[in-house]
Amino acid sequence: MNINIIYAHPNSNSFNHAIKETVLNTSMELGHTVTVRDLYKEAFSPILSAKDLMDISNGVFSKDIALEQDYIKRADMLIFIYPIWWASFPSILKGYIDRVLSFGFAYNDKGGLLSNKKVVFIQTMGAPESVYENNGLKEAIKLIQKESIADFTGMDFVGSLFFGEVPTSSREQLSNKLSEIREFISKI
Ligand SMILES: Cc1cc2nc3c(=O)[nH]c(=O)nc-3n(C[C@H](O)[C@H](O)[C@H](O)COP(=O)(O)O)c2cc1C
Repeated sequence: MNINIIYAHPNSNSFNHAIKETVLNTSMELGHTVTVRDLYKEAFSPILSAKDLMDISNGVFSKDIALEQDYIKRADMLIFIYPIWWASFPSILKGYIDRVLSFGFAYNDKGGLLSNKKVVFIQTMGAPESVYENNGLKEAIKLIQKESIADFTGMDFVGSLFFGEVPTSSREQLSNKLSEIREFISKI
């Protein structure tokens, strides 16, 4: 399987970086072909500009958008890895979704165009997972991912993993979370 990891964290000493490395290494050990799009490293512009909107309506994509779309075209599965910021995607990733999953590429007026692909979301949080379960935010976030991104573009929503209390977890607890991720990747 061809896997495209879309990774959005600015620090290489972050837990998200460790997750990205774990997903990458586990997937390669399983024999998959993996590409990583490190949005901060690429300095990906998250701004959907007036020119982008004009280009997209004419069926044209700028170089940086077309490059990301090529990685998606070659992939059977997309895996998004990022921290929850303000109960949402970091803006660089939201901008990637705005610009790359565009009309004419990811969907058109007849429906989703990415129906041969699967999608997974892996996110970390400062709050305990139970807080997001009790206040409904976990379901809300999953609903956006499933209905507004996966279903809308025709992708198969494989799952969404939440890892809470990251900044306050011990090394051992973080290492257990990485084992869970390894197990999840092996299963899918
Ligand atoms: C700008 C910003 C906004 C954040 N908003 C939230 C939030 O809404 N909910 C939450 O649980 N944690 C929030 N956090 C905490 C991060 O999610 C947490 O520190 C991160 O997931 C830990 O992973 P890392 O070590 O890879 O950065 C926020 C952190 C930052 C910097």
